[in-house]
Amino acid sequence: MAKRMNRFVCQNCGSVTARWAGRCDGCGEWNTIAEEIDGPPGSVGGIGAGPRTASGRKGRVIPLVPLEGDVKEAPRIQSGLAELDRVTGGGFVRGSAILVGGEPGIGKSTLLIQACAVLAKRGHHVVYVSGEEAVGQVRLRADRLGLSSAPVKLAAETSVEDILATLSAGPTPALVVIDSIQTLWTELAESAPGTVTQVRTAAQSLIRYAKASGATVVLVGHVTKDGQIAGPRVLEHMVDAVLYFEGDGARQYRLLRAVKNRFGATDEIGVFEMTGLGLQEVANPSELFLGDRDGRSPGAAVFAGMEGSRPLLMEIQALVAPTSLGTPRRAVVGWDSSRLSMILAVLEAHCGVRLGQHDVYLNVAGGMRIQEPAADLAVAAALVSSLSGVPLAVDSVHFGEIGLSGAVRPVARADQRMKEAERLGFKAAVGPAGSLADGQRAAIGLPLVEIDTLAGLVARIAARADRPVRPLKEAER
Ligand code: TYD
Ligand code: MG
Repeated sequence: MAKRMNRFVCQNCGSVTARWAGRCDGCGEWNTIAEEIDGPPGSVGGIGAGPRTASGRKGRVIPLVPLEGDVKEAPRIQSGLAELDRVTGGGFVRGSAILVGGEPGIGKSTLLIQACAVLAKRGHHVVYVSGEEAVGQVRLRADRLGLSSAPVKLAAETSVEDILATLSAGPTPALVVIDSIQTLWTELAESAPGTVTQVRTAAQSLIRYAKASGATVVLVGHVTKDGQIAGPRVLEHMVDAVLYFEGDGARQYRLLRAVKNRFGATDEIGVFEMTGLGLQEVANPSELFLGDRDGRSPGAAVFAGMEGSRPLLMEIQALVAPTSLGTPRRAVVGWDSSRLSMILAVLEAHCGVRLGQHDVYLNVAGGMRIQEPAADLAVAAALVSSLSGVPLAVDSVHFGEIGLSGAVRPVARADQRMKEAERLGFKAAVGPAGSLADGQRAAIGLPLVEIDTLAGLVARIAARADRPVRPLKEAER
């Protein structure tokens, strides 16, 4: 009999140590290490270690097969929510396990009950297991969403063994939703519910069920900012797809983002709006992120961005104000702050724009988060516009990456960015020369104002200063 030992597991990243420590060496988080009872070697924890390897049975010879052979295109089940299907890469793949993460209250349960209802109404066998809410609460929500007539099979249960026994007893479901993985409890691990070991072992059993039965299993996982609850991050490498549901609790729209997908692209986003009737899909998100623009205030630039395969226009707002502080303030929301420092340095070194005596605030309107370097040019335009007090043309979009030399470099998919801008009524795009191939130019009605260097952009904005600002019309006052 293997000796049982206690071990210390970080509840944030899952690293194991022999001794308790205030700070985890693995991830650097404080107060995340908890004591857990270690089972017999191989029974818990490690991936691929089946739960029954400690039973003493001998290993079985598995058949080795050639790489070449029959492959069926992964059969998918479409959820009927176009934005969700976009993010999963065209629907749920049978036999796959998907982790849907997000902060509490963001709308994970709402999204999944909606998807379940659509699938059930189409005749699929769908099971929704809630470990957090009682049956009555789930029913109440479904009723409020007008979905109570959908033949979804519902259970409020937290025991993994009971859930698996129930699922195996009936016909194989097309979709099983487990809400949430943190509430589950399995007898295979002896640690307390909610610990990394429990979460991991429970997920392992459910993933094995998905592969064996062909049902799609969706695991809901809560992520908290401080990482106090066993983070679903330890599950990311076990599942086939990881979708994060994000958004600002104070705003009504939500983004579903694929951060891992074995069966599709990972840079896709789905956009939803939380309404009184649940989550509604937003087919034209650019309109949502552009907000109310009046075109007369300096410091706002429209960035023609891409989120996955979809073009998305977003407004970038900058405020540059003189400071009395020795070290001026730099505050960024929705963008990378080291990238902002780089652009400020390039503006100073190559364009003579001095911002050392100014506070700089940068914000991406609508709470969006931009990761593309293609936003550099729009950020620079917003900064220069705010500093000089010259509003940018209200009907133009910007895109382009800025190099340390001050050169503006072409970015991918300029044609799609420009087509989206054209569709939304913009009249010009400002971007690097050579963005469009010769064949693409004819298909786009929008002229491209070519900018080779950042200094060229600054000169262009300075030239606008001489133009009279259009006076307000009576109707706009
Ligand atoms: P929920 O799906 O319970 O979040 P999660 O499962 O991620 O914790 O969503 C909770 C929030 O959504 C709650 O604050 C209320 C809001 N909500 C609506 O605004 N409209 C609705 O129709 C529903 C069902 C929820
Ligand atoms: Mg929930």
